Amino acid sequence: MDKLIPLIKKYYNKIVFVPWWHCDERRGAPNCVVCARGDFYARRLNNRKINYKCEQKRFLYIVRYMPLRILQILEMLRQMDEPMQQFLQNQARINVISLGAGPGFDIAAIQKYLVEQNINNVQKNVTCWRVDKEQLWDQIAVDVINIYESDSVHFEHNCWTFDFSNPIPPFSGSVQSDDFNIIIASYFLSELDENSLANVFSLIKENTLGPSLIMINDINDSNGDVKNILINLRDFLGSDYKWKYDDNGIVGKNEVRRDYPYPRDFGKAEPYFTCWKSKTIRVLITKIT
Ligand SMILES: C[S@@+](CC[C@H](N)C(=O)[O-])C[C@H]1O[C@@H](n2cnc3c(N)ncnc32)[C@H](O)[C@@H]1O
Ligand SMILES: [Zn+2]
Repeated sequence: MDKLIPLIKKYYNKIVFVPWWHCDERRGAPNCVVCARGDFYARRLNNRKINYKCEQKRFLYIVRYMPLRILQILEMLRQMDEPMQQFLQNQARINVISLGAGPGFDIAAIQKYLVEQNINNVQKNVTCWRVDKEQLWDQIAVDVINIYESDSVHFEHNCWTFDFSNPIPPFSGSVQSDDFNIIIASYFLSELDENSLANVFSLIKENTLGPSLIMINDINDSNGDVKNILINLRDFLGSDYKWKYDDNGIVGKNEVRRDYPYPRDFGKAEPYFTCWKSKTIRVLITKIT
């Protein structure tokens, strides 16, 4: 077993289950465990402003969602078309950017995939950018991204604190502005207003000049908000991008329980074992130039 369960245990042990009167974010709930129940996705909550200032909420996010989210992303990566797979396998240097990265589950899943796929043990360098408006996740992300470290796939982890409601500045540093090979937005587009979405769309189009894989994983909300966002993105990107769309659940509780056996008492933190069919949308967008 990998280092994931010990890491979940570390954060589980930080959760306070009794009333926590000092939490400023508490909205009348008896404790943070109840308060944070389902309180993560802005559109589902009628655009109520969400923040992650309560550290208990961040710990709960790890315990509740990490294994499910990593499996969801891995399943998507395994559905990638052959030419893109070949490209990633042969490429010694890969640039990855995670939008709304939070604790870094998306990067951890990509890392696991690249390590598994590196059957010839060729030295690979992967530069990752975790973009988030919150710095609150940065320390946790270092833990998460270390789960799948390996000798052959070297990961460089960069944090970029940025709010997409602002215009995107020119990139600097080691990543050139046109060469992201993997862009991932997991449970992120559903948190954005129209202006931020326009900025994200531009980032995607302007920075996928080479071979690229764009992965979107999000809530399939009943009013179709995310579907509409995706229709707009498809129009915006145009015909150079090939789409694979799926809104049927692919990860269920048997898979999560089999791959990541939670200790029994973790149930108190209300872990999420299932991504229900109707609740998720996954899109793989490929551009091979
Ligand atoms: C629900 S979490 C998703 C985290 C992770 N990608 C996952 O799949 O579990 C959404 C993240 O998006 C970030 N976020 C929301 N609005 C943003 C914005 N306008 N600019 C940058 N990050 C934003 C939040 O801070 C949060 O960390
Ligand atoms: Zn709290």
